[in-house]
Amino acid sequence: MRLGGLPLIPAEQIQNRVRELGAQITRQYKGSELSLVVVLKGAIVFASDLMRALDVDVSLNFIRARSYAGTESKGTVSFTLLPDMMLEDRQVLVVEDILDTGRTCTEVMQWISKHRPTSIRLCALLDKPDRRVIPVEADFKGFVIEDHFVVGYGLDFEERYRNLPAIHVMEA
Ligand code: IMP
Ligand code: MG
Repeated sequence: MRLGGLPLIPAEQIQNRVRELGAQITRQYKGSELSLVVVLKGAIVFASDLMRALDVDVSLNFIRARSYAGTESKGTVSFTLLPDMMLEDRQVLVVEDILDTGRTCTEVMQWISKHRPTSIRLCALLDKPDRRVIPVEADFKGFVIEDHFVVGYGLDFEERYRNLPAIHVMEA
């Protein structure tokens, strides 16, 4: 696998879309407090831009779920880090880098639901609907893409390329 030349989504386009998402999420939660739960590691770049585009009171939490080795989904999800804050009676927004099979998100949403938040919604920068195994829809989504393995803006291939400012396709 090697990095494709031209970006699939240029950095400027990502930044514009993140600002739009920020405005949309602000409208939803205006005047209330919002607990962000960022799914590590991939969503970290997206979340750090997104939170600065929000005009609401936010708190920040992380969850780490693993389901991937290389480009292969292992089909099982395990948590290696859980939120250390109370989510009970809080409005929770899960921030994900990409919705692929839907397994990670479903597990994360289920774990959070058990802690009785007032509401729980999902924001994903990217969505690959063709790959879905478990039906899950994002409440806020950045871009719908075809079934490519993509890297950059937080997303990795074997831990590389997270720091790229644009999103690129990995080519065979
Ligand atoms: P899911 O559980 O299959 O929906 O996979 C979600 C996780 O797999 C994401 O949070 C990513 O970390 C990883 N993933 C899925 N597709 C890609 C991709 O195209 N590039 C990089 N990581 C991906
Ligand atoms: Mg990964």
